[in-house]
This record gives sequence, structure tokens and C-alpha cells, in this order.
Amino acid sequence: MNSLSDTDVLADRQAMTENAIQRVLVLEMVRVTEAAAIAAAQLVGRGDEKAADAAAVEAMRRAFDNLYIDGTVVIGEGERDEAPMLYIGEKVGMGKGPKIDIALDPLEGTTITAKAGPNALAVLAAAEEGCLLNAPDVYMDKLAVGPGYPEGIIDLAKSPTENVKAVAAAKGVDPSRINVCVLDRPRHAELIAELRALGCGVVLIGDGDVAGVIAVTDENTTVDMYMGQGGAPEGVLAAAALRCVGGQFNGRLVFRNEDEKARARKWGITDLDRIYKLEDLASGDCIFAATGVTSGSLLDGVKRRRKPTGEVYMTTESVVMRASSGTVRWIRGEHRVG
Ligand code: FBP
Repeated sequence: MNSLSDTDVLADRQAMTENAIQRVLVLEMVRVTEAAAIAAAQLVGRGDEKAADAAAVEAMRRAFDNLYIDGTVVIGEGERDEAPMLYIGEKVGMGKGPKIDIALDPLEGTTITAKAGPNALAVLAAAEEGCLLNAPDVYMDKLAVGPGYPEGIIDLAKSPTENVKAVAAAKGVDPSRINVCVLDRPRHAELIAELRALGCGVVLIGDGDVAGVIAVTDENTTVDMYMGQGGAPEGVLAAAALRCVGGQFNGRLVFRNEDEKARARKWGITDLDRIYKLEDLASGDCIFAATGVTSGSLLDGVKRRRKPTGEVYMTTESVVMRASSGTVRWIRGEHRVG
């Protein structure tokens, strides 16, 4: 029988420690999104997008301080000169431990929160260094479908009609039985008309396409596909979630002017027409965490409650997933107030 050398034992222990750190991180990430959601929830329906966002950003920034990670924000609140906190390149965590890249949106759905609409989230994705696309803050054309379809069933190079027909054929239904989630924007008028001409159900959402894309993976929604343009950073966050739960995603950056193209080149993007698939946006092991700010298709929002004893507390609902294990955890938290 071969006995292990000291070096083998040491390497083994280190691997175990690193794995343990990753596992612990899964739950730690929820603390971070919970903190942001609770802070933003104080401003639901107050008509002030900026204040709600600022509260979420500050709370998330503070929550990161306690994490044993050497973290770097790769998708955040903007560039250093435009965002005081959680800007791209900012180091977060204790500066010790595993090197982790973080994509975050402390408040995904600022307008939703201001208007007390559905589906506002505090959200982040964490991955090993270099595994998340450093997406510039431009639009991204998105196309997504849930798990269980043959690989390559969707293709952004094809028309919406061709994609719907492919999914309908794989599902064994008429295209008119396919429901497609789309952001309700004037820029999508043609897309919506094309889908309606096929007889599709078009599920229009006012904001929040991270939840919109994730809806394709959820059996409790009627959504089969996601289509249309939204923020590129939100595309990377949604892709991280799909890496964990399955499904397919195509994304292509959309540039409205030369300045946006220059911004992309600055982030090292040379092929501006590239169609990104899941692994191009979020590779390796990654964690996706979200806490509901307002209730929606994915999560319940933050609620203020009072126990019979008179104690006031907040409840949160979060989801956290990990790509390497495929584990999805739904976490309800009770947080004492004051
Ligand atoms: P905010 O939280 O920044 O308001 O983003 C909400 C959102 O709806 C995203 O989910 C989506 O990707 C993006 O805005 C779409 O941008 P636009 O409102 O310009 O169409």
C-alpha cells in the first residue's frame, strides 16, 4: 500500500480548506444580499430611486467587510470616478483568503423599488478570479431558455421566429403555446409584434431582467423563453444563475455609439459582435445569490413583522446556488430590528 508523503497530506489539507472556504462562502454571500435588501426595503414606494440604491450599496459594502476573501468587484456600480462605493476594481472583503471576482447589483430594480413594483432584488455572483466577463455598462441582446432542451437550441444569430419555432418543436407544441418574457420598452415594439404574429404569449415586465431571465428556469412560471435588450451587467448576473440551475443563454453586446465601443475595448473586448454563451460570461465554479426587496416571481420581498411578544423583526427570502454542485438553497431569514 502506498503511504502519503507529507507534501501530499499538506496539499490534501489545503484543497480541503479551499473547498471548505468555498462552501462557507455560499452562505456568507446571502448575508451580503440580505443586508442590501433590508436597507433598500426601507425605501420601497418612496419615489426615490437614488436613495434606495445608495442605501443598498452602502449596506452591501459594509457586509463585505466581514468576509474572509480577497475580493475584487468586476461588475459594480460603475467606474471609480462615477461611483463612490462598489466601483469596478474595488477590493472587498478582508483582503485575505481566496481570490474572488464579484459581479453585483445591490439593487436590481431601482425604479421598481421607488414605485413598490414586483421583483426588485439585491443580487451578486461570485467566481474564481478571471471567471466572470468584465462587461461594460452597455446594453446586451439576450436570449434564454430553461433546462432540458438540446444544446444549441437557441441562437441569437437567428430570428426570434426561428428561435421560437425551434423551442416549440423541441417541446412538441405549436409556436402559439410558447410564452416569451420581454422588457416593456419601445425598442422592443418590432420584437413584440413578431412574437404576437406567431401567436406567442408575451409576458411584458416593466424592469428587472435578471428575474426575467431566471423565470425561464422556474417551473412555477409560464415563461419558456427570454428575449430582448437589457443591461449587459445584468446579463452576466443572470448567466451566473443559469450556470447553476441549467438552461441556455446567448448574449451580444449592443453599442449605441463610438464611446460605448471604446469602453468595451478598454475592458479587453476585441470582437464587438461576439455572441456570448453561458461559459463565456461565467465560467468555473460560481455562486449566485439574491434576496428579494419586493415580492415577485422569484422571491418574497422584505417584510416587517411583530411577534406576539411585541418584538419587531424583518423577514427576508433569498436564493443561493452553486455551479459546481448544482445545489439551490432557499433561505428565509428573520432579522431582529434594533
Ligand atoms: P436598474 O436597477 O438599474 O434600474 O435596472 C433595472 C433594469 O430593468 C434591468 O433589469 C435591465 O437590465 C435594465 O434596467 C434595462 O435598461 P433600460 O431601463 O434602460 O431599458
